[in-house]
Amino acid sequence: RPDLKLTRPLVLVGLMGAGKTTTGRRLAKRLGVPFKDGDEEIEEAAQMRVADLFEIYGEEEFRDGERKVMQRLLNERPMVLATGGGAFMNEETRKLVKEVSTSIWLKADLATHVRRTSRRDTRPILRKGNPEEILRKLMKERDPIYAQADITVDSDDGPHRDTVQAIIKAL
Ligand code: S3P
Repeated sequence: RPDLKLTRPLVLVGLMGAGKTTTGRRLAKRLGVPFKDGDEEIEEAAQMRVADLFEIYGEEEFRDGERKVMQRLLNERPMVLATGGGAFMNEETRKLVKEVSTSIWLKADLATHVRRTSRRDTRPILRKGNPEEILRKLMKERDPIYAQADITVDSDDGPHRDTVQAIIKAL
Protein backbone atom coordinates (compact mmCIF):
# COMPACT_ATOMS: atom_id res chain seq x y z
CA ARG A 1 0.00 0.00 0.00
CA PRO A 2 1.88 3.04 -1.23
CA ASP A 3 -0.56 5.34 0.61
CA LEU A 4 0.42 3.81 3.93
CA LYS A 5 1.98 6.44 6.15
CA LEU A 6 3.85 5.00 9.07
CA THR A 7 3.75 7.86 11.50
CA ARG A 8 3.71 5.46 14.44
CA PRO A 9 5.95 2.48 15.13
CA LEU A 10 4.30 -0.90 14.53
CA VAL A 11 4.69 -3.12 17.59
CA LEU A 12 4.11 -6.86 17.43
CA VAL A 13 2.92 -8.57 20.60
CA GLY A 14 1.92 -12.13 21.41
CA LEU A 15 2.99 -15.29 23.16
CA MET A 16 6.28 -17.10 22.52
CA GLY A 17 6.06 -18.80 19.14
CA ALA A 18 3.53 -16.35 17.72
CA GLY A 19 6.05 -15.51 14.99
CA LYS A 20 6.77 -11.95 16.10
CA THR A 21 10.41 -11.87 14.99
CA THR A 22 9.91 -13.63 11.65
CA THR A 23 6.78 -11.70 10.75
CA GLY A 24 8.28 -8.44 12.02
CA ARG A 25 11.36 -8.81 9.86
CA ARG A 26 9.27 -9.55 6.76
CA LEU A 27 6.81 -6.76 7.48
CA ALA A 28 9.61 -4.22 7.90
CA LYS A 29 11.20 -5.34 4.64
CA ARG A 30 7.90 -5.11 2.80
CA LEU A 31 7.30 -1.60 4.18
CA GLY A 32 10.91 -0.50 3.72
CA VAL A 33 11.40 0.54 7.36
CA PRO A 34 13.92 -0.59 9.99
CA PHE A 35 13.24 -3.68 12.10
CA LYS A 36 14.09 -4.00 15.79
CA ASP A 37 13.77 -7.02 18.03
CA GLY A 38 13.22 -6.31 21.73
CA ASP A 39 14.95 -9.44 23.03
CA GLU A 40 17.95 -8.83 20.78
CA GLU A 41 18.22 -5.23 21.94
CA ILE A 42 18.13 -6.35 25.57
CA GLU A 43 20.86 -8.91 24.91
CA GLU A 44 22.97 -6.28 23.22
CA ALA A 45 22.46 -3.73 26.01
CA ALA A 46 23.23 -6.27 28.73
CA GLN A 47 25.83 -8.22 26.76
CA MET A 48 24.06 -11.38 27.96
CA ARG A 49 21.54 -13.92 26.70
CA VAL A 50 17.92 -13.56 27.83
CA ALA A 51 18.09 -17.02 29.46
CA ASP A 52 21.14 -15.98 31.50
CA LEU A 53 19.55 -12.67 32.49
CA PHE A 54 16.56 -14.60 33.85
CA GLU A 55 18.77 -17.02 35.73
CA ILE A 56 21.10 -14.46 37.26
CA TYR A 57 18.79 -11.52 37.93
CA GLY A 58 15.35 -13.14 37.99
CA GLU A 59 12.23 -12.33 36.02
CA GLU A 60 11.34 -9.15 37.88
CA GLU A 61 14.62 -7.42 37.19
CA PHE A 62 14.51 -8.63 33.59
CA ARG A 63 11.09 -6.96 33.20
CA ASP A 64 12.46 -3.75 34.54
CA GLY A 65 15.33 -3.73 32.06
CA GLU A 66 12.94 -4.76 29.29
CA ARG A 67 10.72 -1.78 30.06
CA LYS A 68 13.66 0.61 29.79
CA VAL A 69 14.79 -0.85 26.48
CA MET A 70 11.23 -0.63 25.17
CA GLN A 71 11.03 3.01 26.19
CA ARG A 72 14.18 3.77 24.26
CA LEU A 73 13.14 1.81 21.17
CA LEU A 74 9.69 3.37 20.98
CA ASN A 75 11.25 6.75 20.31
CA GLU A 76 12.41 5.52 16.93
CA ARG A 77 10.19 5.69 13.88
CA PRO A 78 9.20 4.64 11.41
CA MET A 79 9.93 1.09 12.47
CA VAL A 80 8.62 -2.38 13.17
CA LEU A 81 9.35 -3.67 16.67
CA ALA A 82 8.98 -7.30 17.74
CA THR A 83 8.58 -7.48 21.51
CA GLY A 84 9.42 -10.32 23.88
CA GLY A 85 6.22 -12.16 24.79
CA GLY A 86 6.10 -10.72 28.29
CA ALA A 87 6.75 -7.07 27.46
CA PHE A 88 3.11 -6.18 26.79
CA MET A 89 2.16 -7.74 30.16
CA ASN A 90 3.96 -4.97 32.00
CA GLU A 91 1.40 -2.26 32.70
CA GLU A 92 3.76 0.64 32.14
CA THR A 93 5.13 -0.83 28.92
CA ARG A 94 1.63 -1.57 27.68
CA LYS A 95 0.50 1.98 28.38
CA LEU A 96 3.45 3.37 26.48
CA VAL A 97 2.97 0.99 23.55
CA LYS A 98 -0.72 1.93 23.37
CA GLU A 99 0.10 5.62 23.51
CA VAL A 100 2.78 5.88 20.88
CA SER A 101 2.45 2.93 18.52
CA THR A 102 0.07 0.79 16.55
CA SER A 103 0.08 -2.55 18.35
CA ILE A 104 -0.58 -5.82 16.56
CA TRP A 105 -1.37 -9.10 18.32
CA LEU A 106 -0.19 -12.15 16.43
CA LYS A 107 -2.75 -14.67 17.63
CA ALA A 108 -2.17 -18.38 17.32
CA ASP A 109 -3.49 -21.58 18.86
CA LEU A 110 -1.75 -23.70 21.46
CA ALA A 111 -0.48 -26.29 18.97
CA THR A 112 1.20 -23.55 16.94
CA HIS A 113 2.93 -22.09 19.99
CA VAL A 114 4.09 -25.55 21.10
CA ARG A 115 5.40 -26.43 17.65
CA ARG A 116 7.22 -23.15 17.03
CA THR A 117 8.82 -22.95 20.48
CA SER A 118 10.04 -26.56 20.40
CA ARG A 119 12.59 -25.76 17.69
CA ARG A 120 14.98 -23.92 20.00
CA ASP A 121 15.50 -24.22 23.75
CA THR A 122 16.15 -20.51 24.38
CA ARG A 123 13.12 -19.60 26.49
CA PRO A 124 13.82 -19.68 30.23
CA ILE A 125 10.11 -19.79 31.10
CA LEU A 126 9.57 -22.99 29.13
CA ARG A 127 12.47 -24.77 30.82
CA LYS A 128 10.66 -24.82 34.15
CA GLY A 129 8.32 -27.68 33.31
CA ASN A 130 6.23 -29.17 30.53
CA PRO A 131 6.28 -26.53 27.76
CA GLU A 132 2.76 -27.35 26.55
CA GLU A 133 1.28 -26.99 30.04
CA ILE A 134 3.15 -23.73 30.61
CA LEU A 135 2.05 -22.30 27.27
CA ARG A 136 -1.57 -23.34 27.94
CA LYS A 137 -1.52 -21.51 31.27
CA LEU A 138 0.18 -18.43 29.80
CA MET A 139 -2.39 -18.26 26.98
CA LYS A 140 -5.21 -18.25 29.52
CA GLU A 141 -3.58 -15.48 31.54
CA ARG A 142 -2.27 -13.39 28.73
CA ASP A 143 -4.65 -13.65 25.79
CA PRO A 144 -7.16 -11.19 27.31
CA ILE A 145 -4.30 -8.69 27.66
CA TYR A 146 -2.81 -9.27 24.20
CA ALA A 147 -6.37 -8.68 22.96
CA GLN A 148 -6.00 -5.04 24.01
CA ALA A 149 -3.69 -4.49 21.03
CA ASP A 150 -5.08 -2.24 18.30
CA ILE A 151 -5.14 -4.97 15.68
CA THR A 152 -5.42 -8.77 15.93
CA VAL A 153 -4.08 -10.96 13.15
CA ASP A 154 -4.28 -14.74 12.86
CA SER A 155 -0.75 -16.14 12.87
CA ASP A 156 -1.38 -19.88 12.56
CA ASP A 157 0.14 -21.56 9.52
CA GLY A 158 -2.74 -22.14 7.16
CA PRO A 159 -2.70 -22.92 3.49
CA HIS A 160 -1.49 -19.78 1.71
CA ARG A 161 -1.65 -17.80 4.94
CA ASP A 162 0.33 -14.58 4.64
CA THR A 163 0.45 -12.85 8.00
CA VAL A 164 2.33 -9.86 6.59
CA GLN A 165 -0.36 -9.30 3.97
CA ALA A 166 -3.05 -9.59 6.63
CA ILE A 167 -1.32 -6.93 8.74
CA ILE A 168 -0.89 -4.54 5.83
CA LYS A 169 -4.56 -4.95 4.96
CA ALA A 170 -5.56 -4.24 8.54
CA LEU A 171 -3.47 -1.05 8.89
C1 S3P B 1 9.12 -14.18 27.41
C2 S3P B 1 9.25 -14.25 26.04
C3 S3P B 1 10.56 -14.28 25.36
C4 S3P B 1 11.64 -13.61 26.20
C5 S3P B 1 11.65 -14.20 27.58
C6 S3P B 1 10.29 -14.05 28.29
C7 S3P B 1 7.76 -14.19 27.99
O1 S3P B 1 10.44 -13.62 24.11
O2 S3P B 1 11.48 -12.24 26.29
O3 S3P B 1 11.99 -15.56 27.45
O4 S3P B 1 7.60 -13.92 29.19
O5 S3P B 1 6.79 -14.48 27.25
P1 S3P B 1 9.74 -14.30 22.80
O6 S3P B 1 8.26 -14.08 22.92
O7 S3P B 1 10.32 -13.52 21.67
O8 S3P B 1 10.09 -15.73 22.78
